[in-house]
Amino acid sequence: MIVPFDFLNGDLDDVERGLAKVYHTGQNKIWNGREVLDKLFKKYSDTKIKESHREPLQNILSIILWGEYVAWTVSSEMSANFKEFGAKIAAVSQAHDEARHFYVMRDYLQRRLNYKPSPIFGSALFVLKEVSTTNDLARKLLGMQLMIEPVAITIFRFIRKSNVDPILNELLEYYEADEARHIAIGMKYLPKLIKKMSAWEKILFILWQIKMIDGEIRGLKSIEEDLIKIGLNPLDVFEFAEMKQVSCLKLLSKDMGIGEGMWKPVLKLIRFRKKIAFYPDKRHGTIQKIINSFFEAIKK
Ligand SMILES: [Fe+2]
Ligand SMILES: [Fe+2]
Repeated sequence: MIVPFDFLNGDLDDVERGLAKVYHTGQNKIWNGREVLDKLFKKYSDTKIKESHREPLQNILSIILWGEYVAWTVSSEMSANFKEFGAKIAAVSQAHDEARHFYVMRDYLQRRLNYKPSPIFGSALFVLKEVSTTNDLARKLLGMQLMIEPVAITIFRFIRKSNVDPILNELLEYYEADEARHIAIGMKYLPKLIKKMSAWEKILFILWQIKMIDGEIRGLKSIEEDLIKIGLNPLDVFEFAEMKQVSCLKLLSKDMGIGEGMWKPVLKLIRFRKKIAFYPDKRHGTIQKIINSFFEAIKK
């Protein structure tokens, strides 16, 4: 393997310095998964999850479990492929966090819900599969850091809000803090990769993103019943995830100095797909649903 000699000169630009800081912050805020879990099981040993909440919670968390597995693999891969020091070290710190997220969630599911691993819904798997199989680093970064991570944070936030398990209420706070750092990696590094793209590559990149958003909507739709069973409104969950993703995209455009125009078609499409997926009036037929959703989406 060729030694990257420019790696040794230590001159980092602002982006690289920011990325390296993600690693050091992660190092300072590291938590011991086994200790935290043991402490929480002890603290709440006299509590139980309501019978009617067990299955929906298991369905939702099994998607999170495999999401953590994909995040672990993808960030390890990113660290191996990134050339610059800051991006490389930030990605390896993410991989370390994701490995912990995976085994802690696995242990929680086994101890608290007697979880037996089973296949997750095809639609929820679609986005995870696409992000893990693409060889394009910009797509991997956008898909993992700015699409999957905001959805994960949303699910954590809403599970805590549903108050179904005091152990989860505390445990997921640790997850949320780590995931917020991972989003920062995408925000800092993606502009560098987008700036190198030709106009045609940008179009393909956005088309890919649209495909991913569609997959995410179908994924959330597949757990709609489970969300309702634990007392959540699926549309609230979707809108929170959407708000998180959109604010990431807007900040990214600001950083790149390109205005928000690049994402406009994407934002319209999210609105349209959302209106159809969570259409309020169950009596309307498909055509009426599409027409009404279309006009609602372009109205804003
Ligand atoms: Fe994670
Ligand atoms: Fe993450």
